[in-house]
Amino acid sequence: ETDAFLAAFQARIDAEEKIEPNDPMPEGYRRTLVRQIGQHAHSEIVGMLPEGNWVTRAPSLRRKVALLAKVQDEGGHGLYLYAAAETLGVSREEMTEQLLDGRAKYSSIFNYPTQTWADIGAIGWLVDGAAIMNQIPLCRCSYGPYARAMIRVCKEESFHQRQGYEIMMTLAQGTEDQREMAQDALNRWWWPSLMMFGPSDKDSVNSDQSMKWKIKRFTNDELRQKFIDATVPQAEKIGLTVPDPDLTWNEAKGGYDHGPIDWSEFKRVLKGEGPMNRDRIRARQKAWDDGAWVREAARAHAAKRQPAALA
Ligand code: 3HC
Repeated sequence: ETDAFLAAFQARIDAEEKIEPNDPMPEGYRRTLVRQIGQHAHSEIVGMLPEGNWVTRAPSLRRKVALLAKVQDEGGHGLYLYAAAETLGVSREEMTEQLLDGRAKYSSIFNYPTQTWADIGAIGWLVDGAAIMNQIPLCRCSYGPYARAMIRVCKEESFHQRQGYEIMMTLAQGTEDQREMAQDALNRWWWPSLMMFGPSDKDSVNSDQSMKWKIKRFTNDELRQKFIDATVPQAEKIGLTVPDPDLTWNEAKGGYDHGPIDWSEFKRVLKGEGPMNRDRIRARQKAWDDGAWVREAARAHAAKRQPAALA
């Protein structure tokens, strides 16, 4: 890639042009998009597992219907995102193999267990709330297919966040036991939700280039701050306490100062040593193996319909 080619590409990015699949693009741009979109898709699909665990245990039919709809939405988000990644020349099979053999990541947050019904509320409120903070700017990502996939995803995420917050509100205003269950879930999901935004900017190896290429519109710390500033008042509104003794409003910066994030926990979870990492990959491996016959049947059927000359 010549300097002139890279400069011409950057000029398109700076002019806020959308890059489309058949446009000439730097190999690094393509590669980081395959990495990020693929991992985003994996996160959606693996994210179905902790919530799926509570579909048969939902406390009412209304809660069960909302949870079923959310889990189904996440599967759809995964499919949009795999399809967006495929426009960059990578196959779903390749991406799945990379997930299963550990070469590709998925969001750390999905390696925590869902121990009580309040966890389903905390996931909708905090995890989807954090995902919205991260995904709204991605609607303006420079890569067309990714930006367009995000528009539909964000619409559905706001339903996810609202139904989660309503669960927490109901529990927080319920019996003492229900209130304690909601507070316990907030205590366990608060810090891992902050880690969803990635390492602090000084440790973020991809951010600089991703910001230049307008894949990222804000840095990890900027989005994390936005999430904290929006979510702390929501916790206070329903009488729950954010488990951070150092959390204080900083008038000068117009946002909350917060306590230190345990990056050693983040690194452990990324290394596969989180509470549920092995279960999640085992579940995805089983789904991939159990679905092999469907993929083979679909290929055989497609080949039958293919005119002999083209087969
Ligand atoms: N979990 C796992 N890996 C993470 C991570 C997390 N929470 N945060 C960062 N990482 C990884 C990065 O992938 C990168 O590793 P890699 O180079 O091997 O891919 C490394 O840690 C350093 O982080 P960087 O900040 O340099 O990496 P990025 O520039 O890619 O930023 C990101 C990380 C902000 C997660 C970015 O990839 C992103 O915005 N991804 C798209 C959004 C996404 O994936 N959200 C995850 C949740 S989806 C979801 O919640 C579904 C909802 O419906 C419930």
